Amino acid sequence: MASPTLISDTEAWKDLKAHVEEIKKTHLRDLMSDADRCKSMMVEFDEVLLDYSRQRVTLKTMDKLFKLAEAAHLKEKIERMYSGEHINSTENRPVLHVALRASRDYVMLSDGKNVVPEVWKVLDKIQEFSERVRNGSWVGATGKALKDVVAIGIGGSFLGPLFVHTALQTDPEAINSARGRQLRFLANVDPIDVARNITGLNPETTLVVVVSKTFTTAETMLNARTLREWISAALGPSAVAKHMVAVSTNLTLVEKFGIDPNNAFAFWDWVGGRYSVCSAVGVLPLSLQYGFSVVKEFLMGASYIDQHFFTAPYEENIPVLLGLLSVWNVSFLGHPARAILPYSQALEKFAPHIQQASIQVSMESNGKGVSIDGVPLPFEAGEIDFGEPGTNGQHSFYQLIHQGRVIPCDFIGIVRSQQPVYLKGEVVSNHDELMSNFFAQPDALAYGKTPEQLHKENVPPHLIPHKTFSGNRPSLSLLLPSLNAYNIGQLLAIYEHRIAVEGFIWGINSFDQWGVELGKSLATQVRKQLNASRTKGEPVEGFNFSTTTLLTRYLKATAD
Ligand code: F6P
Repeated sequence: MASPTLISDTEAWKDLKAHVEEIKKTHLRDLMSDADRCKSMMVEFDEVLLDYSRQRVTLKTMDKLFKLAEAAHLKEKIERMYSGEHINSTENRPVLHVALRASRDYVMLSDGKNVVPEVWKVLDKIQEFSERVRNGSWVGATGKALKDVVAIGIGGSFLGPLFVHTALQTDPEAINSARGRQLRFLANVDPIDVARNITGLNPETTLVVVVSKTFTTAETMLNARTLREWISAALGPSAVAKHMVAVSTNLTLVEKFGIDPNNAFAFWDWVGGRYSVCSAVGVLPLSLQYGFSVVKEFLMGASYIDQHFFTAPYEENIPVLLGLLSVWNVSFLGHPARAILPYSQALEKFAPHIQQASIQVSMESNGKGVSIDGVPLPFEAGEIDFGEPGTNGQHSFYQLIHQGRVIPCDFIGIVRSQQPVYLKGEVVSNHDELMSNFFAQPDALAYGKTPEQLHKENVPPHLIPHKTFSGNRPSLSLLLPSLNAYNIGQLLAIYEHRIAVEGFIWGINSFDQWGVELGKSLATQVRKQLNASRTKGEPVEGFNFSTTTLLTRYLKATAD
């Protein structure tokens, strides 16, 4: 018998489907009272602790999920990824972002060629260039040191670097090495984003880094032209050579744009945009801001998780466990959303990054409707990721996750704060206060509060329904030792691999993103129409009634 194309056709999937009824009869209140169960659901690697005891799973469920992983050939798929096979079949490319953080002596093959030496060639070039800019031996057109950097890019060429930058801003070592420097990110084509990013900057002391894998993305290229004009207008066109550099896979287009190819930092088509933060996409701007040694730590943290993901058995493998639990929540328990709740303000840009890859990673990767073979999926894949650092989130959407919809939550806590604050005479620091909430929330979700408990507390009967918490709401807790560059790398890699695991189980291609194309091509038609109407007075044609009306109104209101 031919092997089934869809994972939902396997016995392992059907077995889990049947098992749901059994789980529906359980409550986390009872599951949490089994200490052996809870103990077996705590996994630690490299000081990162995962506690998934508050997931709606029993040991039996986990066993069935491991069988599902077998049925999906998870181990083989991970190995195929690491061995450089073209697992991104719709774009005929390998998926080798793990090579971006491999140590120098590592061998990782793409089409028979070891890519690690190429990776390090670019890293060495970044180290040299960033040191020259930082120590003032690379100066701008008027001889002044370049202390500010504007990185232009969107999607994966923006969100990952922004997340890492935001996280590093509180690390004492990073703060120290960034003293006197600024790093800004220009992503949106909205002129307000341009204005915000150049306000207060002097072109004489600014370096612009254009980051685009394709070097064709409309928003990025328009913003790059705008800042090229900003530099040229102030310092003359020849200043571009000293004030603009690029990161791309398309060095021909970089040169055509007017950036010296010697000032271009390459990466490769085997790096997906949303998995590119460990390439020059992130490493260059972050090294300019913090110095290469800090960024190297970040790469090492990610690399150590890469090894763990490749070698650890399923039961001890943090990304595998996270991925399997997500599949369980989405495809079996029917929870389509996931809240990512870091109890760390430094991680405020983590959820936006994960949205794409996982982020940006998650939603762009796994938001698919067909299997890797093009067969429509008879189940929903992908999650709706959202999040906000605690405790801020507690004052906005937590009401919904406690008493409204069931949304599995990822609580991310940091043991040692980068910036603990003790008020005079108080033994509980700001960080203790923050972490009190980190420890309390998962139990509030799991246990809830019953009408009987409320009754005993003399709550008036008419308020009992309002004050009841059903509980039984799943969450998991990830506890990191600290939030230095190394730990940030660990966290990134854990989530990147978790998303890959989900995609491997669902049998989809997590590494393409055809779903973003249609909107882009329709925008091209609109752009052409705006041009034709403005320059030749052509009427709006070829659009439906709604778009024609809106466009006509817009053109009329913006006509000179
Ligand atoms: O959103 C679609 C996308 O293609 C992402 O995958 C990518 O990260 C982003 O656009 C930017 O693309 P580029 O780096 O080529 O400018």
